[in-house]
Amino acid sequence: MQKLERLQSAVPLLLEWYRVSKRTLPWRGTHDFYRIWVSEIMLQQTRVEAVKDYYLRFLQKFPTVEALASADEGEVLKAWEGLGYYSRARNLHKAAKLIREHGFPKTYEGIRALPGVGDYTAGAIASIAYELPCPAVDGNVLRILTRLLADDTNIDLSGAKEQFAVLLKQVYPKEAGEFCQALMELGALVCTPSGPPQCLVCPWRELCLARLNGEVDRYPVRAPKRARKIEEHTVLVLRYQGEYALQKREKKGLLAGLWQFPFAEGEAETYGSVLECKSAVHIFTHVEWHMTGFLIEAKEKFPQYTWETAAEIAEKYALPSAFKAFKGWLT
Ligand code: ADE
Repeated sequence: MQKLERLQSAVPLLLEWYRVSKRTLPWRGTHDFYRIWVSEIMLQQTRVEAVKDYYLRFLQKFPTVEALASADEGEVLKAWEGLGYYSRARNLHKAAKLIREHGFPKTYEGIRALPGVGDYTAGAIASIAYELPCPAVDGNVLRILTRLLADDTNIDLSGAKEQFAVLLKQVYPKEAGEFCQALMELGALVCTPSGPPQCLVCPWRELCLARLNGEVDRYPVRAPKRARKIEEHTVLVLRYQGEYALQKREKKGLLAGLWQFPFAEGEAETYGSVLECKSAVHIFTHVEWHMTGFLIEAKEKFPQYTWETAAEIAEKYALPSAFKAFKGWLT
């Protein structure tokens, strides 16, 4: 069987499976651009289970694109607190202002031009909101397709996604939104990124060339991962008369422009008396932070920091999850 023929046969099997097996998720069953756009931005680099509650809370706080556009950036970042990759929130906010001015984009190219929207997200929004035949290819889709087709393409090469998008476009059914999400769903529920795939319940079990060849584990073919860089940091939770010190990170780089507990440049003891100490690790995509945190009764209200009570911090400041281990010290 030729590649395209195999893929063609796979489409109705997948759609039928999706109708029966799909999860009920809060962004499904709508064509509302705003709701779909917000969901797809949150779902970039973040698992469905982690997104669900944030999504509902975010829509409650910002029910329309006008509400989002009118908010200030600090409020948007606060609603994003803990979701990670904060440039997504900044771009969402920027894009909301553009949409307030020009209306929702109507084409793939228009969607793709919004800040924070790449090829995958543009394809997903165009498919789901407008039923346009625009493939959304991410690592999950590459995994299920390279297995279905026993395709040896190295998926880490730059053209891989485009190559499979071209292929998918040729078989896109009229139920574009369902098809797009069915591909994602198969990758999430059956042909999973970790652990053995659930081939016995897969709608493609009789069609999947990797399985027929007994070589599911061989796909997708990938470039070797490079090791993450490890950085040691000393984190200070400085308390002075019921207020805690915060500092804003640099405008560029990791967690750009977000708030943090001060990173020490020197011995913790020079800032005051140390009450507690603990270590924590936070893993980013390319870096690991190995942190040692100190709770300190500060000897003065060091003026280089912003000082706030625990309640104010909880209400107004987005403190990234990297610092979660030390937030428990705020009382
Ligand atoms: N991942 C990215 N977009 C998604 C969607 N619409 N449903 C489930 N998982 C997704």
